[in-house]
Amino acid sequence: MEQQTGMKEAAGRAAVDALVHSGMKLGLGTGSTAIFAIRRVGELLAQGALNDISAFATSFQSELECERLGIPFYPLNSRELSGGLDLTIDGADEVDPHNRLIKGGGGALLIEKIAAYASAAYAITVDESKIVNSLGAGFPVPVEVIPAARVSAGKALEALGGTVTLREALRKAGPVITEHGNLILDIRFTAPINPAEMENNINQIPGVVENGFFTRKAPVVYIAHLDGTVEVRGKSGQA
Ligand code: 5RP
Repeated sequence: MEQQTGMKEAAGRAAVDALVHSGMKLGLGTGSTAIFAIRRVGELLAQGALNDISAFATSFQSELECERLGIPFYPLNSRELSGGLDLTIDGADEVDPHNRLIKGGGGALLIEKIAAYASAAYAITVDESKIVNSLGAGFPVPVEVIPAARVSAGKALEALGGTVTLREALRKAGPVITEHGNLILDIRFTAPINPAEMENNINQIPGVVENGFFTRKAPVVYIAHLDGTVEVRGKSGQA
């Protein structure tokens, strides 16, 4: 556990140190790895090594961390960001050999995907346990659905070969309600799937808002290993 936390921190710091520059419009991801990137940005701002950062926080969790660290953050629609980012740094649940991803373990997939596609460059920070040969064999892919489509979308997802579980909240009775008032259906696939096709097919289902396959924008991936090294896989992070 401690070792894994150390790897998450190493990946987050390495990405920020390599990619973040003063004056950037910066997307900040969600989760226990992305938070280390946020903390590194906060640290560099406090030291004066970075300035003039305009951040976009992809979740309530990230907003709170920005608030705590004094990182200025704005809505994506604001005059400061005008719907575009220079770089987004985030975490992931699975990364395949083509740097395609499953994201949404923290339930923030919708805004995380909007940030990824609104960014000129995209970086993912993970520890080595997130690296897989094929997506969807281990981690279930989250699908955000509007509450009225819980059953109908669930049936359509089963027809695509998935086993569907409504995500339950911890320390609150009932399901997880996303920051947009929706539900999360976690989908397990037993047979091998084509992630790019599946990303598309899932989003055709009425009532689906977004799903956790991220296949169309290859990020640069910072992978922290147990031996203390951080491997960088992929080039520019551009679309
Ligand atoms: C949140 C996400 C996270 O980036 C993903 O779940 C990885 O989280 P962690 O770094 O805590 O393992 O997509 O929606």
